[in-house]
Amino acid sequence: MSISFDGKTKTFHLKNRFFSYVMKILPNGQIGQLYFGKTVEGGRVFDYLPEPAYRPMSSYVSEGEYSFSLEHVRQEYPSYGTGDFRHPAVGIRSADGSRISGFAYEGHRITAGKPELSGLPATWCEDEKEAETLAVTLRDPLTGVEAELLYTVFAELPVLARSVRITNEGPDSVYVEQAMSLCLDLPDANYDWIQFSGAWARERHVRTRRLQQGIQSVESTRGNSSHVHNPFVILKRPETTELSGEAYGFSLIYSGNFLAQAEVDTWDVTRFTMGINPFGFDWKLEQGEALQLPEAVMVYTESGLNAMSHAFHTLYRTRLARGYWQTKERPILINSWECMTFDITEERLVRLAKKAKRCGIELFVLDDGWFKGRDSDRRGLGDWHEVRECLPGGIDGLARKIEAEGLKFGLWIEPEMMNRDSDLFRAHEDWLLRAPGRSMTHCRNEFALDLGRQEVVDYLFDVLSGLIGGSHISYIKWDMNRSITEAYSAALPPERQGEVMHRYILGLYQLYGRLVQAFPEVLFESCASGGGRFDPGMLYYAPQAWLSDDSDAAERILMQYGTSYCYPLSSFGTHVSSVPNGQIYRYTPLHTRANVAFFGTYGYELDLEELTEEELDQIRMHTEFMKKYRRLFLTGTFYRLVSPFDGKNLAAWMVVSEDKKTAVAGWYKLLNEVNGPYHRLHMCGLDSSYSYCVKQTDRYSREMPYMPYSAEAADPETAPDTVLTGDELMKVGLPVSDCSAGEKRGALEPSCDFDSRLYVMHAV
Ligand code: DGJ
Repeated sequence: MSISFDGKTKTFHLKNRFFSYVMKILPNGQIGQLYFGKTVEGGRVFDYLPEPAYRPMSSYVSEGEYSFSLEHVRQEYPSYGTGDFRHPAVGIRSADGSRISGFAYEGHRITAGKPELSGLPATWCEDEKEAETLAVTLRDPLTGVEAELLYTVFAELPVLARSVRITNEGPDSVYVEQAMSLCLDLPDANYDWIQFSGAWARERHVRTRRLQQGIQSVESTRGNSSHVHNPFVILKRPETTELSGEAYGFSLIYSGNFLAQAEVDTWDVTRFTMGINPFGFDWKLEQGEALQLPEAVMVYTESGLNAMSHAFHTLYRTRLARGYWQTKERPILINSWECMTFDITEERLVRLAKKAKRCGIELFVLDDGWFKGRDSDRRGLGDWHEVRECLPGGIDGLARKIEAEGLKFGLWIEPEMMNRDSDLFRAHEDWLLRAPGRSMTHCRNEFALDLGRQEVVDYLFDVLSGLIGGSHISYIKWDMNRSITEAYSAALPPERQGEVMHRYILGLYQLYGRLVQAFPEVLFESCASGGGRFDPGMLYYAPQAWLSDDSDAAERILMQYGTSYCYPLSSFGTHVSSVPNGQIYRYTPLHTRANVAFFGTYGYELDLEELTEEELDQIRMHTEFMKKYRRLFLTGTFYRLVSPFDGKNLAAWMVVSEDKKTAVAGWYKLLNEVNGPYHRLHMCGLDSSYSYCVKQTDRYSREMPYMPYSAEAADPETAPDTVLTGDELMKVGLPVSDCSAGEKRGALEPSCDFDSRLYVMHAV
């Protein structure tokens, strides 16, 4: 890893063994982007790259000169109004109303390690040797506004982290109307754009299209990163696969309104920008004030999409998530919501906990419905002081009873919102976000507190730390069930109303940060009506997040597959729920629900009292299996093998231990096939020279000998061990065909819709 500056050619070269990133100070002082791709060795001169040339109808920087045009040069932090007609990275409105600015190089610093970003979540390093940071200072000489661009290269990852800090060093106040965290001009447009989009209950589906001239973008205007689009985009070469080829991944460490956009200009240059959504945003900077923008993370790979994901997984698991739970195995939990919703009593909860204990479950989570008046979603939200009558011993009384059963106790909260029918609303209607003279839009009968106000954050910190500190609470599920509307703050003057959405997020981060610091051993799980805020910003505070309100196994295959492109399995909140599923009314086998949820933090969300003894036995053995392998699921390398988005009725993925000696592959079928085609599953990431004993799990997660369905009268008692080399498993593949066609063959159960199998491989 090195960052160098060549004073003669005014060129910066940031590199490690995975990539080179080259920039140059242009003749007018602006910074030009020259190259981002495979590592280029040596002290090369890159002066041939800007390609200055005359082109008709272009605008030129200096009179009498016809080759240097901002329209044609690729830039690092471009603005609009001086010859570049593409969407800019930065837009400032100055005191005289002008929106024209130009940021020129003033100086730079190269330092070991990585600085923190004030008030915002960001990646970090433990040791200064892990990373190096370049800070380039730009200034608009007319307004005096400074932009500091930060670039951090990590030594052992194909990662370049970027952020920007805008400071008003001029005499007059200015308005930042747009300030992206990252801008990257790529020299061609031969890319597929992959976004992760959907809706409530079907988050982060993979959507791919070829880049075209014009603008393509995803964004959020909802105040949360949202169920609809994720702040993560990939640009990959059309020929790039999971295992080979070039790709860039772009991820924004932010939980609010974002924009990720690719603009392909008329010469096939692609400008990719990412940052706070300029829509509805502006930020006043008085003299001396600064605006820190969120961090954007770029990953470059020449080895395919799995390799790109590995970089994000490692970075986000080990250098974004923090604290006590970062590397710890997560407890297997049971959550009361899908089992009881608001219909709780202490006795029923304790009964469920007793059964859960017998099934090997370790943590009992009381979800919504526990506080005063909360017998439906119409009442009580905001009143965290008092519990409902159905919990006579209070939260601590219940927590102690649960702990006496041998489980830890966890609790649900939704601190950012309140119901109209709550004491908090009656006392502090003035703390709401609402537009003067307009009616308030509700969502699930909820109204949003103005988290941009320090007194609101302080109040919530006091009440929540009293609650957590006052009871035996080991886990908090922090929910958020509405998007932000009427984003107007009574605490801000008219000219600062464009700041409300971002101030809300800053308040949220402050509150989360203080609580996590006050209760370092409490496990926090974030949630926003399922996966409405499944983003890297939340991961900095809460190491796991409820992935979706749709817990149906077949739907989860799609969502977990999409989510895995950026986020590590250690962040997936995955539960086994009841059938028919509460969202989609689908029946899936219990073992498939477990086989999908194992690839995550794992838990349950069903009424154990309604299950048969056989099903409870199954659960007991599933939790045993998870305990045996959860370190592997938490820290192993995850590979996507067969995409459920390819329309083949199949999906598969696997996780391999760091030493490559253990691996578990999940193979999932959607609809059953009669007399179907042959299939081979090509494993990934194994050591080709190792020999692996291959087992397959049955409905009880018992590791049985590998028995292809074609095996005559397969009998686990007599079936020999199958030992294959890593080379065979990866190159030739493991037959996973299914010709059962509804017939029981030996010990093998007939296959059914939504069937699944796990293949466990141990090096021998
Ligand atoms: C939405 C969450 O996603 C659910 O899991 C549950 O906690 C409900 N809110 C409770 O209101």
